[in-house]
Amino acid sequence: AQPLRLGIAGLGTVGIGVVKIVQRHAAMLAARSGRPVTITAVSARDRTKNRDADLSEYAWETDPVTLATREDVDVFVELMGGHEGAAKEATEAALKAGKDVVTANKALLAHHGQALAELAESLGRTIRYEAAVAGGIPVIKSLTEGLAGNGIRRVMGVMNGTCNYILTRMEDAGLPYDTVFEEARQLGYLEADPNLDVGGIDAGHKLAILAAIAFGTQVSFDDVVLEGIGRISIDDIRRAGDMGYKIKLLGVAQMTGRGLEQRMTPCLVPSSSPLGQLSGGTNMVVLEGDSVGQIVLRGAGAGEGPTASAVMGDVMDLARGMRLPVFGQPATSLATPTPAVTAIA
Ligand code: NDP
Ligand code: HSE
Repeated sequence: AQPLRLGIAGLGTVGIGVVKIVQRHAAMLAARSGRPVTITAVSARDRTKNRDADLSEYAWETDPVTLATREDVDVFVELMGGHEGAAKEATEAALKAGKDVVTANKALLAHHGQALAELAESLGRTIRYEAAVAGGIPVIKSLTEGLAGNGIRRVMGVMNGTCNYILTRMEDAGLPYDTVFEEARQLGYLEADPNLDVGGIDAGHKLAILAAIAFGTQVSFDDVVLEGIGRISIDDIRRAGDMGYKIKLLGVAQMTGRGLEQRMTPCLVPSSSPLGQLSGGTNMVVLEGDSVGQIVLRGAGAGEGPTASAVMGDVMDLARGMRLPVFGQPATSLATPTPAVTAIA
């Protein structure tokens, strides 16, 4: 069988994780997809950097657009990050050159997912992005495959591990926000721009992507009502606890009679609920379907192995020739006033 040949742009945490899986599980991947999955070429900014994998057998490209358009690449795997510049240019170039694309880049999808999906569709190509939402949790696959026979009522979730770490650490150790924020910085949890985490933007990107999949709408990040965790005090957390609640940065998307409601805001959740019991840097997504009822998915939302696992799930679908439609129709967005704190049943 013809191999599926990958070109991987970005050799950081996730890119190296993908290289390791392809190398470690070559025989298993071939057996499961019916064809070898190989890497032709890789790309990053600094060729001299010491990386935790043997890359000697792959061609090196400094320019990701050159990598994305190589004749011997079937799938462009975009793991650079950022929603402008190299990631966008190389993704567009790959699609135009007839490649399918796999990406973990939630910012790129939240801002340009619709245009990229339309470009892909017009060219008969596919763009896949399981890793962009809740890292290792196969939430997009769950919605598009396992729950394909359900009308989705609501999707909810804790989709930023850093915020969940900060909130649970404040609660467990009784430490103020600023102290725990500094601790998270020292542990390397925060994005280069910490406001992406604590401002709720990263989680909002993920919610916008998830809502589009769940409700067959277009990605509409600008319509997500956003509020981060920077104003939560230790007193808020204590008072919530006294009433039997935890405070979580919770994303909720639901289709109402008046339009699509999307919000990523601090919420009160019952302490005894699965969401209330979620501690540390873990993610949880709750899906509600009209036939299946409620499903709770919990797991690592970040990190080398979990995120590369989701990328490889997409690669394997492409190796098996699976193509899925991406996103749907525009929806009326419900202009929800920003709630201070909302209680979720
Ligand atoms: P890193 O910062 O660890 O790695 C980024 C890689 O991209 C580096 O190898 C860097 O090169 C390369 N790169 C960046 N800009 C360019 C450019 N202009 N041209 C060529 N190469 C470039 O990022 P992560 O691996 O953490 O994240 C990758 C993507 O996955 C992002 O979109 C992120 O949001 C997403 N993601 C990450 C998760 C995680 O846990 N880390 C979880 C879920 C999604 P060099 O090494 O030479 O600097
Ligand atoms: N900053 C993100 C988080 C990384 O803390 O969840 C994974 O998207």
